[in-house]
Amino acid sequence: MDMQTIKARAGDHNLENYEEKYKNFNWDEVKSNFTWSETDKVNIAYETIDKHAADPAKKDQAALIYSSPDREETLSFDQLKRKSNQFANVLKKYEIEKGDRVFLFMHRSPEFYAAFFGILKVGAIAGPLFEAFMEQAVRDRLEDSEARMLITTPDLLERVPLNELPNLEKIVLVGGSDSDHHINFEKEMQKASEDFEIEWVDLEDGMLLHYTSGSTGKPKGVYHVHNAMIQHYQTGKWVLDLKDDDVYWCTADPGWVTGTSYGIFAPWLNGVTNVVRGGRFSPDDWYGTLDDKNVNVWYSAPTAFRKMLSAGEEAVKKHDLSSLRHILSVGEPLNPEVITWGLKAFDLRIHDTWWMTETGAMLICNYPSEDIRPGSMGRPLPGIKASIVDNEGNELPANQMGNLAIKEGWPSMMRAVWDNPGKFESYFINGWYVSGDSAYRDEDGYFWFQGRLDDVINTSGERVGPFEVESKLIEHEAVAEAGVIGKPDPERGEIIKAFVTLRDGYSESDELLEDIRQFVKKGLSAHAAPREIEIKDTIPKTRSGKIMRRLLKSWELGLPTGDTSTLEE
Ligand code: WT7
Repeated sequence: MDMQTIKARAGDHNLENYEEKYKNFNWDEVKSNFTWSETDKVNIAYETIDKHAADPAKKDQAALIYSSPDREETLSFDQLKRKSNQFANVLKKYEIEKGDRVFLFMHRSPEFYAAFFGILKVGAIAGPLFEAFMEQAVRDRLEDSEARMLITTPDLLERVPLNELPNLEKIVLVGGSDSDHHINFEKEMQKASEDFEIEWVDLEDGMLLHYTSGSTGKPKGVYHVHNAMIQHYQTGKWVLDLKDDDVYWCTADPGWVTGTSYGIFAPWLNGVTNVVRGGRFSPDDWYGTLDDKNVNVWYSAPTAFRKMLSAGEEAVKKHDLSSLRHILSVGEPLNPEVITWGLKAFDLRIHDTWWMTETGAMLICNYPSEDIRPGSMGRPLPGIKASIVDNEGNELPANQMGNLAIKEGWPSMMRAVWDNPGKFESYFINGWYVSGDSAYRDEDGYFWFQGRLDDVINTSGERVGPFEVESKLIEHEAVAEAGVIGKPDPERGEIIKAFVTLRDGYSESDELLEDIRQFVKKGLSAHAAPREIEIKDTIPKTRSGKIMRRLLKSWELGLPTGDTSTLEE
């Protein structure tokens, strides 16, 4: 285990008292920031936009700086309030009501944000779809959610199978024309009033549906409620380190949860200026955005960092990045090399954060004032109980691998899987939300991500296809069938574990297992040789004869096995 740490910068006091805060913090402390502490009612659109528009000191501050290769536009909090009010009036006119699902399928643009907040202001549930989705993906989501309205653009409308979606009554086209027979966004907005009486809702009323894929079946609708604002707001302070005058940039698309929780809610609940960059990714474009917009706080992902790293030092030197104060990462393991690059390129640490669509907000993070252990996701937020559990939901001791799990009941937790209570229930074991990630926790409470259920194995940074190893295994005279998986390992990331059945006449012995191991080592390569071999009576296969590695892995890790309907009898 790498115990090297990277110290915080002098003066970064945010969550300096982590241990004490962790012991004493209660989410109720945050509630007093919002209307329901007085009225019992709330609306996240009010807290993000209208509240700042009502503040003379903030109303004219830039809320949104939208920039793309062909368009630049800035909207103040006051302007965003008016535009979203107008759209809320359009929704009312077309009889959209509280609880209705209204989907957005469009490129990032100022219109997207006006429409998004309009939806929330009428108490409806917003369903943002990633612009790159094709027909099947769009259909699955609109069908499952029974969306009544879709806001889209003419180019993307071509991917919407209108005839097959009986619940989809209304289409709003942004940039449409007179001849297309749909609701025309621009014309309706022109006619609509800038005043709107917000629909005040309960904390537990819905606001957002994000579809996400599991290992099997169609994507599932993860349902979030207004109450999530408590955690969006507080993580904006503790983790994003947002200060009143900050310019903040989250690079995620609002079709994914990072793009809503941290591309919309956290920054605006904290009243900062939010940069949205449209168009395609290129390292030069992104360095340019950091420079041109004087970004102070930047939230992005390892893949992007790695690409920017590859673009070389010259790309960094071309730009003035002196405004940058704080960098964060999410979505996949943050390689220590990337952290090292961050220190060189920006003279700043990159702070890893861990969470998921289902969790609604950050849970395990690296904080400004705390040491970073490169490779670790950090420690749980105050108010979050995270642990490693076995498949019965019993907590495991430090340094033992298991299911990364969170004690049920944090503010931003999903409240349902849309129309699928069984799926929702399946996440919870013994009061724990079981994430599907494997991890371990060290003696000091830092969490170390190990992997997810996936067929491809990464062992000591080497990628190994299980099929290759299985093919080699069954060439051995004693082996009848084989199934190979990656088993999490603190040192190697994963080790290779093989399950085999033996041919008649062979029986289990240590010598035989070692012989099989050597056989693969010599026949394939050392890193591809299974470190563990377990003899089985049968290997689970589908009816078409494919080895169900997922099932083998679930057994190994003690995770829920999910859909086994294709399993051979
Ligand atoms: C899965 C969730 C909400 C964040 C965006 C992705 C992986 C997320 C980390 C991290 C290693 C990470 C996990 C998780 N993941 N953050 N810091 N280190 N892996 O949301 O699409 O719901 O995916 O992303 O495997 O379960 P998502």
